[in-house]
Amino acid sequence: MLHFFFFKGNVMIKKSLIVSSLLLSSIALQAQTTMCFKENHKDMITIENTRLDGGACAGNKSAKDMKSEGWMVDDIKITPTSNGSNYIYIFKKESGLQNVSEEELMDKLYKKLENEKKAKEEKAKQDLFVANSKAGEALYTSKCANCHGDKGELRAKGVSKPLNTLDHNEFQHAIKAYNNGERNSVMSILMKPYAGSMDYQDIKNVYTYLKSINSEKN
Ligand code: HEC
Repeated sequence: MLHFFFFKGNVMIKKSLIVSSLLLSSIALQAQTTMCFKENHKDMITIENTRLDGGACAGNKSAKDMKSEGWMVDDIKITPTSNGSNYIYIFKKESGLQNVSEEELMDKLYKKLENEKKAKEEKAKQDLFVANSKAGEALYTSKCANCHGDKGELRAKGVSKPLNTLDHNEFQHAIKAYNNGERNSVMSILMKPYAGSMDYQDIKNVYTYLKSINSEKN
């Protein structure tokens, strides 16, 4: 729904709306924190340019370097020692906003929306499968299993194909053929009343049920 806007214009207006409501809450505002320190440093004036230990500084980066990489100083703790002072820096960074172009952000957002949409569709599909399968189970176990076997594995009265070997198309065509008289064997008299009571959705449900129980590994 929303990705419509990316392709169809109105980009300026919609973009700001989407960015503020979705992006900021989920992508951009994931703050990172890191702690760096320097022990027994003597001169307060040079500390900014002194390489700090620990965290993302790792003995390589000064507070100045960190700032130039988008970190902000969130807190500094200074404790006097006999040799100078111990400095502890807490740096913070809003990952996502710094160093990332708007285009990249929109790309990320677009992918995120796509993934959410896919996940939703997948879930809806699974829900439908379960619902069909449940309805199919009720119908199959009460009306069909007697002749066709609990799992659709039997040849009914020794003549039908086992139902668990039919694909959806074959299943549908068979039921239709009993209903329109195309299938007219002696034994089909037994099957016809059941075929006559099934609509398209029933066929789909029973088929889905048989498929679900036959693909389970027991
Ligand atoms: C009284 C026994 C009986 C019951 C109950 C029954 N059937 Fe059948 N069914 C048969 C027989 C017998 C055939 C084969 C008839 C023939 O010669 O074509 C058959 C054939 C079929 C076929 C075609 C299989 C093939 O060989 O192509 C399908 C599909 C089918 N049944 C589905 C169902 C469903 C779904 C139900 C439940 C709603 C059901 N049947 C209930 C006896 C039964």
